[in-house]
Amino acid sequence: MKPITCIEDLRVLAQRRVPRMFYDYADSGSWTESTYRANASEFGAIKFRQRVAVDMSNRTLASTMIGQDVAMPVALAPTGLTGMQHADGEILAARAAEKFGVPFTLSTMSICSIEDVAAHTTKPFWFQLYVMKDRDFIARLIERARAAKCSALVLTLDLQVLGQRHKDIRNGLSAPPRLTLPNIVNMATKPRWCVGMLGTKRRYFGNIVGHAPKVADMSSLSSWTANQFDLTLSWKDVEWIKQRWGGKLIIKGILDAEDARLAVDSGADALIVSNHGGRQLDGAQSSISALPGIVAAVGKEIEVHMDGGIRSGQDVIKALALGAQGVYIGRPFLYGLGAMGEAGVTRCLEIIRTELDLTMAFCGLRDVRDVDRKILLPGSYPAE
Ligand code: GLV
Repeated sequence: MKPITCIEDLRVLAQRRVPRMFYDYADSGSWTESTYRANASEFGAIKFRQRVAVDMSNRTLASTMIGQDVAMPVALAPTGLTGMQHADGEILAARAAEKFGVPFTLSTMSICSIEDVAAHTTKPFWFQLYVMKDRDFIARLIERARAAKCSALVLTLDLQVLGQRHKDIRNGLSAPPRLTLPNIVNMATKPRWCVGMLGTKRRYFGNIVGHAPKVADMSSLSSWTANQFDLTLSWKDVEWIKQRWGGKLIIKGILDAEDARLAVDSGADALIVSNHGGRQLDGAQSSISALPGIVAAVGKEIEVHMDGGIRSGQDVIKALALGAQGVYIGRPFLYGLGAMGEAGVTRCLEIIRTELDLTMAFCGLRDVRDVDRKILLPGSYPAE
């Protein structure tokens, strides 16, 4: 096997090893995918100021996110169906994150359940919540996250309806996959994946199956969201959830300064500048271009995080320079997971750490907490 040198190497390997349906699910955006592409490509235009002959010894990437210590300010994003990229995927990714010292965020739409991930890890992880119509179910999910000692609730506000992802429709996405002839033919070319899946019982939406009554088809994300997600979601519900939860709250899916203001008013501890990885509103601006305006509007009042388009440590440091206290990676860790299981997630984190560390040094800094826009070439980064 060729050495894994960058996130792209993990992506290529994952594409080879993961059934098309699940690789495509992760690696796509909605409609024309313009926002999905812009998320990554707009990092490219931002340029660094190279500094020389400065002391580069004793560098540190340690920081905090919502007051919690992190080995580097990079969390694993909540991603649906992670346990379909690789058997027991959420458990493996959570373990890799724990060993590395960065937060893992478990999605509501995970395959491994909250309890299962808690039983296989030793430190608290974060739980991401979708707001569904059934308030009893939400209350129980919050209670389950508390019982599992989750140390933050990440409340997603940008998915009351699901953006159309063409490939998911064409592939007939479901968990577990339906045993149609094209699926069987495709899975036959992914022996590692099949062996893993045959060796685990975790093949259903673990937080939902057996916990939510009144749900007919639980295999399809699109029918589940269409039937269960709450179209009437408002900031009043955020207040209700905040009260019920009582712990650290992170609001995910903010792309507009007015919404950022409402997030501050909600009393949340942090917000995530996010367009859901370009999977929801195609044509929305990229996360990195939205970040400076939101930091300017509310950065003194609330911790600002971001996700979307990060594929390297260089991207991480650009987001930090533009005012993010921390960032989230979704696809990069999914590629690692699909490529090599837990070792692949660890490799992904190592790649990003090394790139972040060396880039910080080239920019003349030794402590990641000192990163600000002075490391960027004026005029090369998006305006506020
Ligand atoms: C959410 O779970 C998504 O598919 O983006």
